[in-house]
Amino acid sequence: MSVIDTRRSIRKYTAQSVAKHTIEQLIAAACLAPSARNQQPWDFLVVTDRQKLDAIPTVQHSCAFISQVPAAVIVCGDRHKNERFWPVDCAAATENLLLKAAELGLGSCWCAIYPLEQEMAGFKQLFGLPDQVEAFSLIVLGYPAEEKPQPDRDPAGHTHWEQW
Ligand SMILES: Cc1cc2nc3c(=O)[nH]c(=O)nc-3n(C[C@H](O)[C@H](O)[C@H](O)COP(=O)(O)O)c2cc1C
Repeated sequence: MSVIDTRRSIRKYTAQSVAKHTIEQLIAAACLAPSARNQQPWDFLVVTDRQKLDAIPTVQHSCAFISQVPAAVIVCGDRHKNERFWPVDCAAATENLLLKAAELGLGSCWCAIYPLEQEMAGFKQLFGLPDQVEAFSLIVLGYPAEEKPQPDRDPAGHTHWEQW
């Protein structure tokens, strides 16, 4: 629960790099997510090359802060593994990855790709994804240079017991 309490979308980062082993731990956590019929339709494209990172805002227009980070992971889904549920499964994997990043002291931000058709096409072209593979989410990763308090949310206001 402490990781759930402290994870926030971070948009200011230090210049510290992220070790390959750390990124592998994040992906291992993502792979432990639940998936429909356990099809695990996900793949993870790790980007650390500066030029490639800096090209991403040409296809995703609300991640300018990627210029500060040493790494990003693009969560991808394979339509052939589960045509109906791949986005749902990729969302579960994305959240697992974000929570593991928080546990390891990293900052992260989930940036939208799916279901934005232009962005999906842009990532497919930029990273040479196979036809049946779709980019689902962009996870920007690095060590945080900002602290964010736990937001004041309203679980009771979103809860309906027995009937709406
Ligand atoms: C599907 C999805 C798409 C998002 N896309 C972006 C994005 O493109 N750029 C961005 O800066 N944040 C993006 N976010 C982060 C949200 O803005 C953030 O989760 C929300 O403001 C709540 O803040 P918190 O994550 O700190 O709780 C996205 C989050 C989700 C779940």
